[in-house]
Order: sequence, then C-alpha cells, then structure tokens
Amino acid sequence: MIRRVVFLLPAGLAMLAGLDAALLLLGLPAPLTTDRLPDIHGMLLVLGFVGTVIALERAVALRTRLGFAAPALLGLGALTLLSPAPVRAGQILLIAGCGALIGVYVPLFRRSHDESVMIQALGAVLALGGAVLWAAGLPMADVLPWLAGFIVATIVGERLELARVVRLAPRTVNHLLALVACLMAAVTAALLWPGPGHALLGASVLALVAWLSVHDVARRTIRSSGLPRFMAGCLLAGYAWLAVAGGIWLLHGRTVEGFAYDAVIHSVFLGFTLSMIFAHAPVILPAVLRVRLPYHPVMIVPAVLLHASLALRVLVGDARQIEWARQVGGVLNITAVLLFVVVTVTSIVVASRRSPTPRHPAASPSLTPAATVAP
Ligand code: HEM
Repeated sequence: MIRRVVFLLPAGLAMLAGLDAALLLLGLPAPLTTDRLPDIHGMLLVLGFVGTVIALERAVALRTRLGFAAPALLGLGALTLLSPAPVRAGQILLIAGCGALIGVYVPLFRRSHDESVMIQALGAVLALGGAVLWAAGLPMADVLPWLAGFIVATIVGERLELARVVRLAPRTVNHLLALVACLMAAVTAALLWPGPGHALLGASVLALVAWLSVHDVARRTIRSSGLPRFMAGCLLAGYAWLAVAGGIWLLHGRTVEGFAYDAVIHSVFLGFTLSMIFAHAPVILPAVLRVRLPYHPVMIVPAVLLHASLALRVLVGDARQIEWARQVGGVLNITAVLLFVVVTVTSIVVASRRSPTPRHPAASPSLTPAATVAP
C-alpha cells in the first residue's frame, strides 16, 4: 500500500496547488502565491492530478512494474511545475508521462482485444497531443479540446466496459466507436479550423452524452440504493454537465477568456470529471491502495455541494456575468472537493480501525468492476 501511496502523493499535491491557484484566478487571497501558479492551474489539475490518478489505476490493472512509469512521470511532471525548475522540464516530463500512458494501453489491449481499452488509448493520445501543444506554447484555449477529449474518451471507454453488463449489440458498440472517431476528428479540426471544428466538437460531445444516457447502466442503478445509487447519481449529473459544455461549444464556438471560457472549462472538468472521480473513488481507491472504503451516505454531501455550487458559478455567475456568483460558486467548488477528500480519508481511517485485517480486493481491470454497480 505504502508504495502506491507514494505514486498518489504528487497527484494530491498537484490537486492542492491547483485549488490554491484557483483562488488566485478568482482574484481572491490564497495560502500560497507564486507568479507561476495561475498559469499552471489547468495542467496541474488535468494531467498532474486527474492524469496521474488515471495512469496509476491503469498501471495497477496492468500489473507490471514498467506500467508505473506513467503515473511516476506525470506526478514528477506536476512536482517539477511546482518547483523553481524551468517550466520546460515539467512540460517534458508530462509529455513523457502521456507517452508512457499510451504504452500501458498497448499490453492492456493485447490482453483483452476490447474496444473499451482502445477508446481509452485514444484518450491518452489526445492527452499527449495536449501536452505537446502546451509545451509548444499554444494558448490554453487551443489545448483545451485535447485535454477535454482525453478525459471524455477515458471515461467513455470505462463506461463501455460496464455497459457490457447489459449485453450491448455489436451495432451499438460500433456506433460508439464512430462517435469517438468523430470526437478525435473534431479535436484536431478545432485546432486547424476553430469555427467549424468547435461546432463539430460540441456536436460530438452531445452525441456521446446521448449514447451514454441511453446505454449506461447508471440509468438503471439510479433506482437501486447505497453505493450503486450514489455512483449513478454522480454519473448522470456529470453527463448533464458534459452536455452543457457540448452545447456551449456548439453554439458559442471557440472561447478564449471570460465567462463562456470559465463555463465550458468547468462544466467539463468540475461538473463532469470531478463528478466521475467522486463516483468512482469508493471503487478505485480500494483496488489501487488495497484499503477499505465502505460507502457512507455522508459522501452525498460534497457531491451535492459540487453540483449546486457549479450551478451557481456557471448558470448564474457565468451565464448572467455576475462576478460575485462566479466567485462564491468557485470557492464552494473548492470546498466541495476538499470536503470529499476529508470524508474519503476519514472513511478509510475509520474502516481500517474497525477491521485491521481487510480482505484486499484484487487489482481491478477497470475503474468500475461490474459487480459494484450491477443492480
Ligand atoms: C475547484 C474549483 C476550481 C476553481 C474555483 C477554478 C477556477 C478557475 C478560474 C477562475 C479559471 C480562469 C478562467 C478564465 O480565465 O476565465 C480557471 C481556468 C482553468 N481551470 Fe479551473 N478551477 C477549479 C477547478 C478546476 C479543475 C478541477 C480543473 C481540471 C481538472 C480545472 C481546469 C482549468 C483549466 C484547464 C483552466 C484554463 C487555464 C488557462 O486558461 O490557463 N479547474 N479555473
């Protein structure tokens, strides 16, 4: 367990530093202030935090030492960005980490020949593209579709794995593959021809949300109870936020700064991505860290706070251009994330005290083993 915590620590630090930078970006006082922090907020959170967590979970599924190079490089990249070392060094490490993540998917695909792994691998290709473009000095507005595509493809791949519980027709899987191909094309087009490219990106994202809304098992498990219901609630709320982002891209096109920029970014990365992390944490952490993390209804509190505060920020603050609502919503977003960390760590500590010799769950082949969410 300790060795795996070491891989998770840089991700935790990247998250805390990213949240600190978020306060600075909101124009508020923050515990830590450096010139660099606001500029690296996005990369710290997307590749340093979420990327490292995804890479660690995939490395655990692969079960070879080499697989751990991906989370190690991504975590090291985040730490280097936070250090006084040249930003270029951190950028190179992030590029190497994304390359290593693609490398993890190759044996995983050879093992399973599963489309879900292929989709996740395509997501890692988008992460690599985003890291390279950022290092090449492109504005974050142009890097954004690549980072969003990375997260969306990774989650869609994971959900496909699970949707198999209900026996999908081959045609349905082919539809999803076609939509992911559209997403890849749209991300590239958004860079080359921003106008039509962003409209295509919005349409692809909306089509993916439609596929997920019809075929994801969350639609059924929302009617169950306990953990499956909690997960389903977070998933469905996350899909709704992804639809908001898709709608903004479709109608508004490329956003560079200001309220629409804030809205599209955080619909994807807070409403969708963080909601997915909240949903999967009770399953990922036991598999990755070999700890017990029993579901407790109190986990609903940070999840509700995340979505309510994001609604204040995006639907009131950004949509009506009301600065105080954006700031209050943003601070409550940060509170929700920190509260979830506190609830999770407390649950792990309490569970380990109650039962000091846990049955270690085997490293799961996916973020969401079917047994956990099947109704
Ligand atoms: C938890 C609360 C968060 C707050 C309060 C926050 C705040 C902000 C603010 C104020 C901006 C600047 C927006 C603008 O220029 O109009 C920003 C940009 C951004 N945020 Fe966040 N953020 C948060 C979480 C996250 C998370 C979790 C992610 C990713 C996983 C993320 C990714 C980004 C990205 C990619 C940008 C664009 C950066 C750039 O233009 O350089 N944010 N954030």
